[in-house]
Amino acid sequence: MNRRFVGGLLAVVMGAYGTTTLTAAGPAIVPKPAKMEVMDGTFTLDGTAPIVTSGADKDLQKVAAYLAGELERAVGQRPPIVASAPSDQPSISLVRLPATEALGDEGYTMLVGPKGIEIRGSTGRGLFWGVQTLRQLLPPDRLAAKPADTGPVSIPCLKIQDRPRYSWRGMHLDVCRHFIPADYVKRYIDLMTLHKMNTFHWHLTEDQGWRIEIKKYPKLTEIAAWRMQDGKRYGGFYTQDEIRDVVAYAADRFITVVPEIEMPGHSLAALAAYPEYSCTGGPFEVGTTWGIFEDVYCPGNDATFTFLEDILTETMALFPSEFIHVGGDECPKVRWTACPKCQARIKAEGLKDENELQSWFITRMSRFLESKGRRLVGWDEILEGGLAPGATVMSWRGTKGGIAAAKANHDAVMTPSSYCYLNFWNTEKKDDPGHVKGRVITLEKAYSYKPTPAELSPEEARHILGVQANVWTEYIADGPAVDRMAYPRACALAEVAWTPADQKDWEDFSRRLETHLQRLDALGVNYYGRGK
Ligand code: ACM
Ligand code: ZN
Repeated sequence: MNRRFVGGLLAVVMGAYGTTTLTAAGPAIVPKPAKMEVMDGTFTLDGTAPIVTSGADKDLQKVAAYLAGELERAVGQRPPIVASAPSDQPSISLVRLPATEALGDEGYTMLVGPKGIEIRGSTGRGLFWGVQTLRQLLPPDRLAAKPADTGPVSIPCLKIQDRPRYSWRGMHLDVCRHFIPADYVKRYIDLMTLHKMNTFHWHLTEDQGWRIEIKKYPKLTEIAAWRMQDGKRYGGFYTQDEIRDVVAYAADRFITVVPEIEMPGHSLAALAAYPEYSCTGGPFEVGTTWGIFEDVYCPGNDATFTFLEDILTETMALFPSEFIHVGGDECPKVRWTACPKCQARIKAEGLKDENELQSWFITRMSRFLESKGRRLVGWDEILEGGLAPGATVMSWRGTKGGIAAAKANHDAVMTPSSYCYLNFWNTEKKDDPGHVKGRVITLEKAYSYKPTPAELSPEEARHILGVQANVWTEYIADGPAVDRMAYPRACALAEVAWTPADQKDWEDFSRRLETHLQRLDALGVNYYGRGK
């Protein structure tokens, strides 16, 4: 935001609404805005002030419709959406500006004066984040599906200039170890919007279950989507229609959905359905225990790539995301070592060993994705044996992978397990059920994470796209259990991802979180510590 422009806005408020006085206490916004000044006075929202949108721009109209719906729920009356309104009447203006360096792709400014609200942004996404801030200016209980009180609401006059620190603010969900139905996935996305998280990483395939319908390979949903658990057939999958619906739901909220199709490892379920793409030919059963399995896709067999490219082709048709995640983690090489086809491939391609074979595999997939205008992202094991040109690394085994990627001029997303794996315990208390081998990430630890490693030069640091919270579901069986592990630590990581480093403050976050938890209460989130 350039200075002259802010000065102009302030002058408008001062001229129209009188003297402004800054107060120390601000509203409890999470993640904390880059800059906020609270002024004297209030504006009353009662649903009568129209939402004014300058232009028929589709994204602008989408934000306006969303805001109208939120206000209708909160104050019992849906404001009309209009193209202009008399300047002396209260209004809520959404203004789309030409792109500026200062606003960036996702920034917004908000001005609340006694006679109106103005939110400005250069993209629909930026405006949408402004509307999320506005939601947090309402009393917390107004976020409920049916608030007890829907009378008029007074919000403080203020001025906000805000933009995110990182462009990738991710949340991941493993829907394979336990199947999480589409309705809950949408709710997960809704909670992301409140926290200005913009990337939903949907982990769709695993040893223990395949969750995405692929028309060309029906056995993936007939066989690979199901396993025996406690003597019963357990599983599920999303039809392509359901996936389109979730992707559209996310897009309406300016959230990008990045699908993950795992390869070459974590592929036992798919191989149970199509054993011909393994090294041994099977037979296999869909995994019923957690861990790492040795039967993986056979890169010695060209048909394996036809299979995977067909799957990615259907996947890309469902997901407009530029990034497509291909996993790449935890792939044992023992089958490749013993497989004549894999050994022949190593020889024919002049590769040194099985690590280079994995690199060759990922490079081949990366070229395929790039030929379709997409970009490959994979877990940090894709560094082993050489990083595929153009690949983006998701650094999960600490930060080494992200550092190596950035130094090699590749983009990276930071999600080190010790800070970002929200399936780890919340506390040392052994009664915490959502655990992986007792590893602990307290709320304060999650909050303390610094995504840009100090080892990087400013030039290299530009490759750190952002940060992501992951929720693996070996010990998390359903939506309420996901809530309990994800929240409130996801609130902390949202602030890590959004708020400028010099604005982060644990004590201040803890105070704001008290109010924010009331919002989560209103939204029915089963967060850790709820009711305590
Ligand atoms: C991972 O946690 N295996 C990426
Ligand atoms: Zn093989």
